[in-house]
Amino acid sequence: MTIQFIDLKTQYQRIAPAVKHCIEAVLEHGRFIMGPEISELEERLAAYVGSKYCVSCSSGTDALLMPLMALGIGPGDAVFTTPFTFMATAEVISLCGATPIFVDVDPVTFNIDPVKLALAVTAVECNDPSIYPLPKATGPLRPRAIIPVDLFGLPADYQQINALAASKGLAVIQDAAQSFGGVYAGKRTCSHGLCGATSFFPAKPLGCYGDGGAVFTDDAELKARFVSIRVHGQGTDKYENIRIGLNARMDTIQAAILLLKLDIFDEELAARQIVAASYRQRLSQIATLTLPPIVPLGSVSAWAQFSVLAKDCLVRDSIRARLDAVGIPTMIYYPKPLHLQNAYAGLGYSQGNLPVCEDLAGRIFSLPMHPYLEETVLQQICSEVENAVS
Ligand SMILES: Cc1ncc(COP(=O)(O)O)c(C=O)c1O
Repeated sequence: MTIQFIDLKTQYQRIAPAVKHCIEAVLEHGRFIMGPEISELEERLAAYVGSKYCVSCSSGTDALLMPLMALGIGPGDAVFTTPFTFMATAEVISLCGATPIFVDVDPVTFNIDPVKLALAVTAVECNDPSIYPLPKATGPLRPRAIIPVDLFGLPADYQQINALAASKGLAVIQDAAQSFGGVYAGKRTCSHGLCGATSFFPAKPLGCYGDGGAVFTDDAELKARFVSIRVHGQGTDKYENIRIGLNARMDTIQAAILLLKLDIFDEELAARQIVAASYRQRLSQIATLTLPPIVPLGSVSAWAQFSVLAKDCLVRDSIRARLDAVGIPTMIYYPKPLHLQNAYAGLGYSQGNLPVCEDLAGRIFSLPMHPYLEETVLQQICSEVENAVS
């Protein structure tokens, strides 16, 4: 038996007849763009999240880009985010012409550190990199927004982030690409900022069979802007364009698939909790391995990944090699923080600027995690990890 890092096949076997039926229904009605499944999905997702509005779109990347465009964020603006995330989180800031300000993460949660975030905002306000490392040669910038990421499914510290944002007049755009279905302070992710963005990339906790995303808000005016931006900045008439927009619609077929997967999503989330608890119980015996933090009371992680820290890079690589040799796949999320990526060389950050995420990048790795991971397989994975470290 091959061990899958994320097992989409088993999920498909479970729902195959219904998937085929729902795709066929779309083929029959033929409304491939903005068909009836789109609004049905948006209503169900908004209700699921507990948000007034949901606007579906073509990817998690566009779900992050649309709020920045809707808020008119552009050149001269600073948007604060974490460097320990997938490129899309920061890329959208650059695509708007704004400047990403990378803020180091908390060493335990791996999410943006609210204390350092406050320092970074002050540093931008004063244009003083001695307060917190800033990109070089940008000139004075105007703080506009924060994009916290709920890394690996664990919600960021919104109590502190929102308090800071409110005191500084900043918009919070929650990147819940990895945390859809998770909970913070009793509310589902995507509902903790001015807007929340998520991804339905196949490997995400709720995934479709291609690209897809959605953005959520309680603000009617923002929702209207998202709807316009999603289709080339369209106005009331199809050929009236009132702003620059995108082609960012979700395909009807993907919406039909998501409607179906939403029916089994809570069950899958519950299964992820069991997998995470089993990993924790067994791996906590290994003193040299650092496990993900205990999820705080009032929060639920969507457990997109189960990521652990080895003692150092050498140990991490030898554990991974050992697991690989016996057919157990692992991944590194993320081997290089964004401030050190070539794409951001122009910002002039250097090694040592953001030491916590730099250290994590050298030691972290993720074990297979999905709702269909059987206990016997999980125990086998854990035994191999034990053998590798002993
Ligand atoms: C944290 C984070 N943000 C944004 C994205 C972008 O989502 P998508 O791939 O759907 O564009 C991803 C996807 O991998 C992600 O992990």
